[in-house]
Amino acid sequence: MLRAMSASHFDPDAYTEALRFAAAAHGAQTLPGSDLPYLVHVVTVAAETIAALTHEHHPQADLAVQCALLHDTVEDTPVTLDEVRARFGDAVADGVAALSKDDSLPKAERMPDSLERIREQPHEVWLVKLADRITNLARPPHYWPDEKREAYRIEAMLIGERLGEASPTLAGRLAARIEDYKAYIGEG
Ligand code: NI
Repeated sequence: MLRAMSASHFDPDAYTEALRFAAAAHGAQTLPGSDLPYLVHVVTVAAETIAALTHEHHPQADLAVQCALLHDTVEDTPVTLDEVRARFGDAVADGVAALSKDDSLPKAERMPDSLERIREQPHEVWLVKLADRITNLARPPHYWPDEKREAYRIEAMLIGERLGEASPTLAGRLAARIEDYKAYIGEG
């Protein structure tokens, strides 16, 4: 079936357009606790997302890939949602909006609120949040205290519970990272 065969393929031009936009938006930002460009995070989240597209049937591949590349632009840079909408359309903008925490809420409510908004989006957007946390469960910045590391691990379990059904591939990778992350608790 040609339709099914093409489902997991994404358009490199769509990828590149989103990558260039994200690169300009994140500019000179670096990864927390590192000299590497922040764009490394963005591209790693895209790689995790593409892994799900390769192993599973997700028809809106470009939506997933563009949301992955753009997922932190509104939350972490001066870029506005209107700019994302004008450039990439409603589906991508709505996905990025759901992936962005609402600063007006108390801190403890921001992630649960974002997860519920992601659940109103297509599964392709869920992939990005799973991919984001898989990526972020690498070794934490040295200055993170243990309480923060433990809270981050527990929050990752919530992400897996709420969104894992969208992707067995990413749910499995997330569960493994959550387990591995235990090694970083007690160092902080
Ligand atoms: Ni991120």
